[in-house]
Amino acid sequence: MNIAVIGTGYVGLVSGVCYAELGNRVYCVDKDPAKVETLRAGGIPIYEPGLGDLSIRNAEAGRLSFTTDISEAIIEAELVIIAVGTPPLPGGEADMRYIEAAAREIGDAMNGYKVVCVKSTVPVGTNERVKAIIASRYTGAFDIASLPEFLREGTAVQDTMNPDRIIIGADSVQASDLLTELHRPLTEQIIVTDIRSAEMIKYASNAFLATKISFINEIANICEKVGADVTEVAKGMGLDKRIGASFLKAGIGYGGSCFPKDTKALIQIAGNVEYDFKLLKSVVEVNQMQRYSVIDKLYQSLGSLSGKQIAIWGLAFKPETDDVREAPALEIIERIIELGARPKVYDPIAMENFRSMYDHPAIEWCTTAMEAVQDSHALCLLTEWKEFTEASLQEIEAALAEPVLIDGRNVFDMAQVRDSGLAYYPVGRPVQY
Ligand code: NAD
Ligand code: UGA
Repeated sequence: MNIAVIGTGYVGLVSGVCYAELGNRVYCVDKDPAKVETLRAGGIPIYEPGLGDLSIRNAEAGRLSFTTDISEAIIEAELVIIAVGTPPLPGGEADMRYIEAAAREIGDAMNGYKVVCVKSTVPVGTNERVKAIIASRYTGAFDIASLPEFLREGTAVQDTMNPDRIIIGADSVQASDLLTELHRPLTEQIIVTDIRSAEMIKYASNAFLATKISFINEIANICEKVGADVTEVAKGMGLDKRIGASFLKAGIGYGGSCFPKDTKALIQIAGNVEYDFKLLKSVVEVNQMQRYSVIDKLYQSLGSLSGKQIAIWGLAFKPETDDVREAPALEIIERIIELGARPKVYDPIAMENFRSMYDHPAIEWCTTAMEAVQDSHALCLLTEWKEFTEASLQEIEAALAEPVLIDGRNVFDMAQVRDSGLAYYPVGRPVQY
């Protein structure tokens, strides 16, 4: 199949590379010439395990090309996939400007029948809007479809090649047949539905996963007060197949480019039809508060933070990615600085991205994990990178000026901590002195 993918970010690039790996001919388009240049030179503009090798292999095989020219990309395409960003507007609504611009560009470049589908996460009704924009600029026949994406950063290639399900929202047999044929090698679990339901499935899935996280974080907060251990509680709950074990890891709240924006966008979508989505509003509020549990624990352990040096391990919103969009570390570090402390920060991959998003003279940027810990009054672990989970607690204890470890991701086990001499503040588990 001949495919054009518009937008070569996390979703567009991973999808494009994986469709090429299935034997299709894929053109990836991006309006950012620097990104296209990097990709043409065999580089990868994001950190995503496994993606680099796959991209080079398929480019060398002549199945994958990168361009800034949408006309060149779609001239032979049977399928055009829109994968541009839908970032949040200040009020929480999804910003449709990139989708609409892409639809206009596609409309102007159309040269025959194609299926145009939207992989970006978009409010219900957007595919119809895309159809209207294209139809206002191109009078020939075409079909549209919704193809929501469910990959996670850090495991994006694995998720794309082994999806739990493929959702196709279509109002034509041509579109549903084409997308079914494309995804058949990946899974049997292909659900064809109407376009509006497909758009809703994406928001509902992310909102539900975010709800699980906020739920377990609230249980963790109660566990701290009643002396229970949330990791035991989650294990016990997760064995019930109706509940499921995943997304029950208590921590410092969800971050990233999706859950924060998609939960707020769904609240707006509901609001637009005069529905007050109370449950999801609480999920967002709980998530916001959870980040500050790290600050509360710093207070409990150190008293005033003024003049204190605080080591931060982890800036990315989760391990195995360099993405820092809506990372909990952003607000935690800002608050630490407001309270008069000096953060010494380290992340194995995301330092540069974080610094380009937030820089402050009070921050000391470290080149190793232990450099951040040296002479600090506390260590806060905010992202569960393997490098941190394998660290020696004895070494940490010896390097800290005060032996305080705030573990925002529950990565250390209690027996290990007991002999370390550290005051250990996990999430939803008993504090150890
Ligand atoms: P991103 O910001 O990483 O990438 C978007 C890319 O589109 C950028 O490279 C930008 O330059 C390019 N672009 C914008 N307008 C363009 C145009 N008119 N022509 C060509 N290129 C254009 O975004 P992302 O993280 O890949 O997310 C894309 C969409 O997929 C969003 O709606 C997001 O919610 C959704 N999504 C993201 C993930 C994820 O893990 N990141 C997972 C599932 C769904
Ligand atoms: C999430 C969804 O998992 C994907 O299915 C979806 O496609 C994507 O959003 C999207 O729409 O963009 P992603 O944000 O990459 O993927 O990462 P997740 O693994 O879901 O983690 C999101 C956040 O939740 C992270 O900050 C993580 O630390 C946190 N989390 C996750 C928890 O705090 N506890 C958990 O049990 C799981």
